Amino acid sequence: MQQAPRIIASVLGADYMRLGEEVADLTAAGVDGIQWDVMDGSFVPPITFGADVVASARSHSDLPFEAHLMIEHPATAAADYASAGCELIIVHAETATHLHRLLGTIREAGARPGVALNPATPLSDIDGVWEELDLLVLMTVNPGYGGQAYIPAVERKISEARRVIDDRGLDVRIEVDGGIKPHTIGSARAAGAEDFIAGSAILGHPEGKAAAVAGLRAALEA
Ligand code: DX5
Repeated sequence: MQQAPRIIASVLGADYMRLGEEVADLTAAGVDGIQWDVMDGSFVPPITFGADVVASARSHSDLPFEAHLMIEHPATAAADYASAGCELIIVHAETATHLHRLLGTIREAGARPGVALNPATPLSDIDGVWEELDLLVLMTVNPGYGGQAYIPAVERKISEARRVIDDRGLDVRIEVDGGIKPHTIGSARAAGAEDFIAGSAILGHPEGKAAAVAGLRAALEA
């Protein structure tokens, strides 16, 4: 059954010279969580946050942190982000040679495991691990950059995942990541999504972070 929606801020587009303040401001703006887009310059071209950076921001918010590992070797890094204070560790199915084992390793490290699928990756790629997941992230942009256009075709995959979860009674939330704005969040929700990652919609909003979050929540209710 589709759960109540949550809006989670991506800090990819934050001012990295004021990262602690930005995390505190996002917390005050009323988001439900913070997502760290971890990039290694190989799986995706940019390089972003090491675990130490995440750990340094931990004290600036009491919200759940999630680490989205857009990196080629998630098995070597997952435990570090759990130690840094991330409750959720999201790995890409495209990078995990032994995905079933990796999800167990994340849980053993004390975090909850999630799997992300790029727009071109079919849902069938995770047939063997549904029962190991707490979160399924369906990328609604190609990973690597904020501010990209939402890919509506992914809504077919969102609805397919919704059906699998509901038919099998799985305790897995569906998160969408990329291009989430007031004009796209409603159709992603209608397709079956529950968690909404928003970066540029919040950080770039002319009226500030709180107004941006309120606008996204209003669009969900519309
Ligand atoms: C892509 C990133 C972005 C980011 C959100 O790798 O994962 O999707 O979190 O960016 P916006 O909300 O600006 O599309």
